[in-house]
Amino acid sequence: MKEKLQLLFKTISSEIAKASTVAELDNVKNIHMSRKSELNNIRKNLKDLSDTDKKIIGSLTNKIFQDLQILLEEKYELLKTAERNEKLKAEVIDITLPGTYIPFGKLHPITKTINEITEIFQGMGFSIASAENSPEVETEYINFDMLNFPKEHPARDMQDTYYCENSDNIILRSQTSGTQIREMLSKKPPIRIISPGRVFRCESISARKHNQFHQIEGLLIDKNISFSDLKGTLNEFIKIYFGGERPTRLRNSFFPFTEPSCEVDVQCIMCSGKGCRTCSGTGWLEILGAGMVDINVLKNVGIDSETYSGFAFGMGVERMTMLKYAIDDIRLFFNNDIRFLAQFRGR
Ligand code: DAH
Repeated sequence: MKEKLQLLFKTISSEIAKASTVAELDNVKNIHMSRKSELNNIRKNLKDLSDTDKKIIGSLTNKIFQDLQILLEEKYELLKTAERNEKLKAEVIDITLPGTYIPFGKLHPITKTINEITEIFQGMGFSIASAENSPEVETEYINFDMLNFPKEHPARDMQDTYYCENSDNIILRSQTSGTQIREMLSKKPPIRIISPGRVFRCESISARKHNQFHQIEGLLIDKNISFSDLKGTLNEFIKIYFGGERPTRLRNSFFPFTEPSCEVDVQCIMCSGKGCRTCSGTGWLEILGAGMVDINVLKNVGIDSETYSGFAFGMGVERMTMLKYAIDDIRLFFNNDIRFLAQFRGR
């Protein structure tokens, strides 16, 4: 019995020594130290031995049990530490390594300009027109008729319009001015809105022209509004947008929906007024059209022109952006070339 116990001790202790993972050691423990193990059986059967044997074998079994327990604990400690070290080594973070660059999306330069311009006008008490009054698919009636473009009048040819197939009335809007009509039809004066949006014209695409671009429309209707209010508003806007240093001029013009009408030019940013390709040698670039709302337009929307008057203006967003950042090709805004767009980071 004694030998058997000693052999058992040798076997188990060598299995403990051989275990190379915590899981393997668990296994050794389950097989040899559980209640059904051989060692435990010997212990259970001690009662059948003679008194002297009981004493000797009993204390030997206990000793073996205790020794194995100690060996197990030591081995557990060793394996757990080793496994923890292994894990730490695998998970080590070198905080001196450069991080992974995660590119951020930024606003498109056109969106930035729209935000900037609308904020300036919001500061002057204008609010943004409701989106439902600014549809890109529009009727010819709103886009032209209501804005006092006479039927068959060459003024309609100023803007080469996209007509929808099978319809001589539904168009892609050629200007945001239709929003003026929709606003005046849906609201009572005083009205003070601006409305940014996309417009479409059947143009061949070049560095200076595109068949889609953006405009910002403005409209103010109230009592006692005169041309000097228009001039003051536009001057203030231009001063803020261009920073006050760029010379501007007001020029007489014609639009069917304003009377009198004018256009505003800023000095060419490319040549500083000397005359170049961008400004066709004139030294000036047109940035917006404006005027006093024509009495016929007020009549069309049912506003009493004896009580109310107002002004309107419209500007090209691409043009405003090109002037501010000296961009010489309108197509850049639509190509989505990241090398171009990335230059507007952080602005
Ligand atoms: N809609 C005109 C265009 O596309 C621009 C314009 C001119 C808008 C005069 C206006 C305005 O509101 O009063 O050329």
